[in-house]
Amino acid sequence: MPTKSPPSGFLWGTATSAYQIEGSPLADGAGPSIWHRFAHTPGRVLNDDTGDIACDHYRRWREDVDLMASLGVNAYRFSVAWARVLPEGTGRVNQPGLDFYGRLVDTLLEQGIEPMLTLYHWDLPEALDARGGWASNASPGWFADYAQILYRALRDRVRLWITLNEPWVITAGGYLYGDMAPGHSSPHETPIVAHNLLRAHAAGVASGRAEGIEHIGLAVNLEPQYPASPSTDDIAATARRDAFINRWFLDPVFFGRYPAEMETIFGTDWPDFTASDLEALRAPPDFIGVNYYSRSVVRADPTEQPVGARRVRQETRPHTAMDWEVYPQGLTDILLWIQGRYGNPPVYITENGAAFDDPPPIAGRLHDRERVAYLRSHLRAASRAVRRRVDLRGYFAWSLLDNFEWSYGYAKRFGLVRVDPVDRQRLIKDSGRFYRDAIRRYGAGPRHGDLPART
Ligand code: FCB
Repeated sequence: MPTKSPPSGFLWGTATSAYQIEGSPLADGAGPSIWHRFAHTPGRVLNDDTGDIACDHYRRWREDVDLMASLGVNAYRFSVAWARVLPEGTGRVNQPGLDFYGRLVDTLLEQGIEPMLTLYHWDLPEALDARGGWASNASPGWFADYAQILYRALRDRVRLWITLNEPWVITAGGYLYGDMAPGHSSPHETPIVAHNLLRAHAAGVASGRAEGIEHIGLAVNLEPQYPASPSTDDIAATARRDAFINRWFLDPVFFGRYPAEMETIFGTDWPDFTASDLEALRAPPDFIGVNYYSRSVVRADPTEQPVGARRVRQETRPHTAMDWEVYPQGLTDILLWIQGRYGNPPVYITENGAAFDDPPPIAGRLHDRERVAYLRSHLRAASRAVRRRVDLRGYFAWSLLDNFEWSYGYAKRFGLVRVDPVDRQRLIKDSGRFYRDAIRRYGAGPRHGDLPART
């Protein structure tokens, strides 16, 4: 039973996702997911790494909740593995899989940590992929049925829900570029998949409303786009890339229409959606989850299809180990953009963080100075937006743990906590200590003063 009431006020959290940390993907009756299959297909993931062990969180979850408590966070964003709950994707519920998340939620609440539950963070049950996956017309119904099971099981304890994590990455990575599961490269399938994901979000919101759920969000990866030059070509290319990455999913859920640029981008592959198809997508979330990492400076380039635009590397600026430019002002800009375009909805920063090649630990300490600097500058950027009245409700650092970074395997480390690659021992990095200090001093939110200058 919960011993502390859930926190009100600003949420300070860390974020993870199921396949990236849990390990034991087939334990206790779970079915395989598309990421399990993808990672086990030679050549798909760097070094052929898999999520078979990952951070071993499925077995060490109590230790991880204790770690969060020692960091002083009052919230935790995690995702549920659909195939643990429904091994075939639909139909029979696997009770041990559902119970795992129930125990996790209870233990979080005992420690005063508010759970934020993401229903889908990319690990579609393999059985559903065999039935067409997100390209199938039936997929929104599968998702709504799955969501209803979770709502009913956990609505008495989980207040904050997210339908989908980054529908853009699911669509573009999984069905256009093919570097993510299920690994298709089909410009024809791509807009259909995006449409089905939007229908799934709408169906997930409707099913949540029917179950009395009040806080349902959508988490999107946002990346402000700036033209490389004032030329009309670069400005038009920037608008296309902005539609493609930032507006493709948010415009339909708020306005019931796609950005006009989408048809230019996809040409004959863009389906003929009817007015009622589009209206059915309107399902404004109760909050937007913003996943922010970097920006793009954009140049027109007809050889880069389908958008006809490419990102220009800013050689003089710092980059992370993902080769993403460190650009904190982009976070302020994108938060202000949401405020202006979508009517100042409540926002959580549901992911923000950086991969760096960490130095080895020495005497129980890991001095990840670049990650500390990244966090500090981005928290300041968030506070600039708050001063301009963005309705920011919380910040979730990506990630609690070094984990399985999709097609990069274990090569890219985002954790505030190091996970030893051999024995999976946890070690709080300096960035974790910095975050703990920031939370202690500014618990009420980044608007209340400046952030700590040193760890
Ligand atoms: C986001 C994903 C998350 C993680 C970070 C680095 O796109 O949502 O799972 O991989 O990037």
